[in-house]
Amino acid sequence: MDEKHIEWSPRFELGIPEVDLQHHYFADLINRLLEELGTADTRYQKRLIRELDAYARFHFISEENLMFRAGYPQLDEHARHHFALIDELNVRETRFAHGQIAATDITDFLIAWFLHHTAREDRSFADFLQAGGDDPVA
Ligand SMILES: [Fe+2]
Ligand SMILES: [Fe+2]
Repeated sequence: MDEKHIEWSPRFELGIPEVDLQHHYFADLINRLLEELGTADTRYQKRLIRELDAYARFHFISEENLMFRAGYPQLDEHARHHFALIDELNVRETRFAHGQIAATDITDFLIAWFLHHTAREDRSFADFLQAGGDDPVA
């Protein structure tokens, strides 16, 4: 994968249409921010980071609601991961706003988030659904 771009790959697909749609858009937002790294004007970068933050919060609620509806037993643990990601993003967002870190400290974090959480940890939920969820008579 190009360091400056998240190339969408079939291996990222979980087979849950609304989640895949949201993950795809999340990757697009990260790419949009990566494209802005070369510019000196950080105002748009800060706005994009706010958009990413808001979208991630929306996506996490959406994903947790699907998990709740499906009776996913790891919901609480997964929600804690979501909370930690938002918390870390907010810490970095504030530090970036105060000029204490570079924008790449945010994009590096977002890429790692995408590769470890979105592409891997979310897959456990897809595997659970594929195995029939919690309904033994489905
Ligand atoms: Fe997700
Ligand atoms: Fe997740």
